[in-house]
Amino acid sequence: MKRIAILTAGGDTPALNATLYGAVQRANELEIEVYGLMKGFDGMLSERLPHVRLNPLFTTIPELDPCMGGTIIGASRSYIDPDQTDILKAVSARLEQIGIEGLICIGGDGTINGMQPLSELFPCTLAPKTIDNDLGLNHIDEPNEWVRETADNGEDRYRHEMTRDDVSLGEIVNYVTPGYATAVFVVAQSIDRIRTTAESHRRIAIIEVMGRDSGYIALGAAYGQPDMILIPEVELDYPKIIDRVRHLYDLQKSAVLVIGEGVCDSDGPLGAKSSSVDPAGNIKFSGAAERLAEILAAELGDEYFQKNRRHESASSAIFTRKLGHTQRGGRPILFDRFYAAQLGGKALELLVSERNNFLSTLSWSQDGGFTLSELSANKLRDRWGIIHAREVHPSLYDENRFRPSQLGRDYLNPIFRRAIGHEDLEVLHAKLFASGNLLTRYQSINVEVQKRIRYLD
Ligand code: F6P
Repeated sequence: MKRIAILTAGGDTPALNATLYGAVQRANELEIEVYGLMKGFDGMLSERLPHVRLNPLFTTIPELDPCMGGTIIGASRSYIDPDQTDILKAVSARLEQIGIEGLICIGGDGTINGMQPLSELFPCTLAPKTIDNDLGLNHIDEPNEWVRETADNGEDRYRHEMTRDDVSLGEIVNYVTPGYATAVFVVAQSIDRIRTTAESHRRIAIIEVMGRDSGYIALGAAYGQPDMILIPEVELDYPKIIDRVRHLYDLQKSAVLVIGEGVCDSDGPLGAKSSSVDPAGNIKFSGAAERLAEILAAELGDEYFQKNRRHESASSAIFTRKLGHTQRGGRPILFDRFYAAQLGGKALELLVSERNNFLSTLSWSQDGGFTLSELSANKLRDRWGIIHAREVHPSLYDENRFRPSQLGRDYLNPIFRRAIGHEDLEVLHAKLFASGNLLTRYQSINVEVQKRIRYLD
């Protein structure tokens, strides 16, 4: 291969530039040109095919900094409808027109689903990324556990019928995805900050974290030592939750709860949901923390807070914080930078060695630690061809103690033990309060990259 393209699709992560960097560095060694397609699948869908040469003369452009969050080539949630074969063919012809021989997609479950029809016409591989940590399997047979049903509105609905009570950590396929560690780093720090103010003001804090239907970010939040963690995979048991909150509040005059944004009760997701354009069928969630706050306020009642003169009313004693996009932005920590770059390089090698529709993965074993690996995307697909978001396996979470189980702690520790590098702290020390920040406006990378964009015509 002499020339390939690369794109970043779906929600961004702090480690996308690091993945791009890893792929481009490997391409430099193999003397392959890399064109970055702008704004994910959006760029390919445009007749003008906006693109940037990422390694002219096999030298990585200086704008591509693996330590910078986000993606210099932009991202979007547009995908190609698998039934629109004319569009698929046009995209593939457009890529061929500028001499592109293969494509690397950097993305999560939405991207890999979107890549499936294209991979039948054009060589593609995927480098994984997602703060949600939901691209992978708890064990290799998991796709076969999905069943398809018809919903009341006549649409297909997929349900996961888990067949295994436990998993061993060595059998987890794609143990962790780049972006997850930095998201948990942000969450754990935020909990620490919110807790002290909750303690001072005798309040109950409900912190909502991202992850959609997957509770990995909430699980990792345990490093910030919240009092309770509620994950989307386990239906809310209100009496049990309220008993625990009351006990904690009586004991310590404050409580900190972390909830995954997709938490559900017997009526379904707690927050409002709206559908996204994502081919994985992903849903956007909002408002779970507010809803839980209302439920707790109603159940505990004003009198409970007034009796010890701690608060006027239940609603003034309970506050919510949605950590939102802070979890997805900023500088990636060492773990993410390092493995993102490795996975990018591996995705390039897979493309060169004609492993069409494969993805690079990260495995973990007690003896060998983290190792790079690979998987055919077909292994991720259920009987109907859908790739589902990985859920936190029940054996990783202790639903009685609202926290990671022993296995959950064993799962998290290899990722986070050495996740922060010394330089991560040095950068904070050197840059945050640099006097120049007061003088100079932030110099957006988009301005520099714009100068490098080329079009088909
Ligand atoms: O999938 C990544 C993610 O950050 C989810 O955790 C979150 O629900 C969603 O994207 C938010 O997407 P957007 O930024 O497009 O609203």
